[in-house]
Amino acid sequence: MGLALRMSKIQESMTLALSAKAKKMRREGIDVISLSAGEPDFSTPDNIKNKAIEALSRGFTHYTTVSGIPELKDAIIQKYKRESNVDYSPNQVIVSTGAKQALYNAIFALIGPGDEVLIPIPYWVSYRDQVIMAEGIPVFIDTDEKSGFQFSIDDVKKSLTSKTKLILLNTPNNPTGVIYNEDVLKEIADLAIERDLYIISDEIYEKISYGEIRVRSIVAIEPKVKERAIIINGFSKAYAMTGWRLGYAVGPEEVIKAMNKIQGQVTSCPNSIAQWAGVEALTGPQDEVARMRDEFKKRRDFVMEKLAGIPHVSYVRPQGAFYIFVNISYYFNKVYKNYKVADSLSMSEYLLNEEKIALVPGSAFGKEGYLRLSYATSKENLEKALDRLKSGLLKLT
Ligand SMILES: Cc1ncc(COP(=O)(O)O)c(C=O)c1O
Repeated sequence: MGLALRMSKIQESMTLALSAKAKKMRREGIDVISLSAGEPDFSTPDNIKNKAIEALSRGFTHYTTVSGIPELKDAIIQKYKRESNVDYSPNQVIVSTGAKQALYNAIFALIGPGDEVLIPIPYWVSYRDQVIMAEGIPVFIDTDEKSGFQFSIDDVKKSLTSKTKLILLNTPNNPTGVIYNEDVLKEIADLAIERDLYIISDEIYEKISYGEIRVRSIVAIEPKVKERAIIINGFSKAYAMTGWRLGYAVGPEEVIKAMNKIQGQVTSCPNSIAQWAGVEALTGPQDEVARMRDEFKKRRDFVMEKLAGIPHVSYVRPQGAFYIFVNISYYFNKVYKNYKVADSLSMSEYLLNEEKIALVPGSAFGKEGYLRLSYATSKENLEKALDRLKSGLLKLT
């Protein structure tokens, strides 16, 4: 008797695995620069930390209601009223142990054996595996660099079958940094209403966008979709709070209730102290969010400048998040010493071993030919790492 059958169908998170490998090499004294991080390199703002210390000092150290403390739910409700002009009630909100758990709850609440889930490529690594864990079938909508990694409503319609239940969207996007076209999002919202489909809209990077293209929640674009859309959001990216493990979802009451049931059996409530930190994050001053975003923008511009000096690479200009998805396919099937780079995975292994830089292969996001470069690291690191990337690519002949 061995492991459950499902274990052969799901993959380890490649982004977490690569970060772990780079960290291990660093512990061994190797000068590795990781461009694989999915987290801001900034510290959580002080006002947020202080709120947590205060909660701890006054002994707020017990289980809370499974779906989160009323104060945090209220702060989330106010956020959606203020920023998206939509009204949610407390039973349409759930706070979870990270956006990842909110997403898992939502997928498990909605998807069962044979249900099809539409997912645009490239996609964030966990979508595919969470759908498979729920015994659903991921159905991918391909996009390409030429179209700016955007898809059309016809692309979506072509993939629909009688088994389609859910469309999973992520904008601003990980790994491309692309913000999806609002007109298409509106068409998808209309389609979901008309065909009784659900939408999960992962909007965790909404605060990290560079002002070149407007970012609005899908419920702000089409308020009627509120009855069909589960919005996933969290604190990890906007407030540099990855280790606190705090995220949330808003959506139709019956879906949130089901998510609550799952969470109650899996993790109970999210961390009590982190929840008070979350209240401060949403209701306190937002200037640190702007400062971090401005810094990410400077780094994005710097990375684009450096990439301009590397022959035969291309990308779509990222408008948000902190990633750039670089097309390195020109260098496939070239060799250096005993390395033959055949795909994005062998390219990332080659660059890690030979140049000591960690980047995530495009195949982890369902798109061959690319590497995801995270610029959530210092300018000095970026400068060194991009010089190494250039050197590694140019050695391949
Ligand atoms: C698109 C996307 N959604 C969700 C998450 C998970 O965030 P959290 O740390 O809140 O679980 C991530 C983290 O990398 C992400 O990139």
